[in-house]
Amino acid sequence: MNKARGRGASLSSLWMQRHFHDPYVAEARRLGYRSRSAFKLLEMDRKLRLLKPGQQVVDLGAAPGGWTQVAVEAVFSHHTELCGHVVAVDRNAWTTVPGATCLTCDVMAADSARLLKQALGNGKANVILSDLSPNTTGHQQTDQLRILTLVEAAYVFALDVLAPGGSFVAKIFQSGIESALLADMKRHFTSVRHIKPPASRKESAEIYLVAQGFHQAVRPLHAQHEGPASAAAPEPPPRCCGTPFGLA
Ligand SMILES: C[S@@+](CC[C@H](N)C(=O)[O-])C[C@H]1O[C@@H](n2cnc3c(N)ncnc32)[C@H](O)[C@@H]1O
Repeated sequence: MNKARGRGASLSSLWMQRHFHDPYVAEARRLGYRSRSAFKLLEMDRKLRLLKPGQQVVDLGAAPGGWTQVAVEAVFSHHTELCGHVVAVDRNAWTTVPGATCLTCDVMAADSARLLKQALGNGKANVILSDLSPNTTGHQQTDQLRILTLVEAAYVFALDVLAPGGSFVAKIFQSGIESALLADMKRHFTSVRHIKPPASRKESAEIYLVAQGFHQAVRPLHAQHEGPASAAAPEPPPRCCGTPFGLA
């Protein structure tokens, strides 16, 4: 047998084995979630209380829709009659999630911010979620740069539309190359932490950045080691690769 095909076949049978023995896959099927990823958001929410009834939530990189389902369940409350709104987007055509406004567009496209804001009714959002994943190449540095480009795009959008007190959650690949982004996030949020929810596979490099308590930047990035903030100092734009959301 062709060696590469043999390796491909054994990798896919390994994937099948892992998939069918994965308790999260079984539980997702039992509860009607479209992906096992739903549990990553449920676990982060349980720990950090991110989602609440009545909130406006944007879910970036949403297909097949597990996170969107979790967000819809959280923002609608029959007890309090608070009705939130979830706007979810993916670049691939996907089946809409009942209760959410589902868009198909590339978040790196020039008009994506306008479309998302329009779907939000041009109001503010309380939570921006990004589970955006690039097509991976297997080359670690390339993949890290690709995901960082997506995260930075999501972050620029979050700075534009988050309401005071809002939260930003984004998937990254553990690497340390996101230090400039982290520094900027610390200026805009009361707390910024890395979290690896139990549902995220141990062998996966993915990890989530969770920032809570959005506010205007307390001090410009270049003055971080220069003592207290000066209110008059101009605020530099966050460093971004690519042309995220047509804002760069
Ligand atoms: C891991 S999946 C998301 C899973 C989802 N959170 C769930 O619970 O079902 C990542 C998604 O990001 C989407 N994506 C990647 N790059 C994108 C882009 N530039 N614009 C929009 N979606 C993108 C992919 O199409 C893919 O569906």
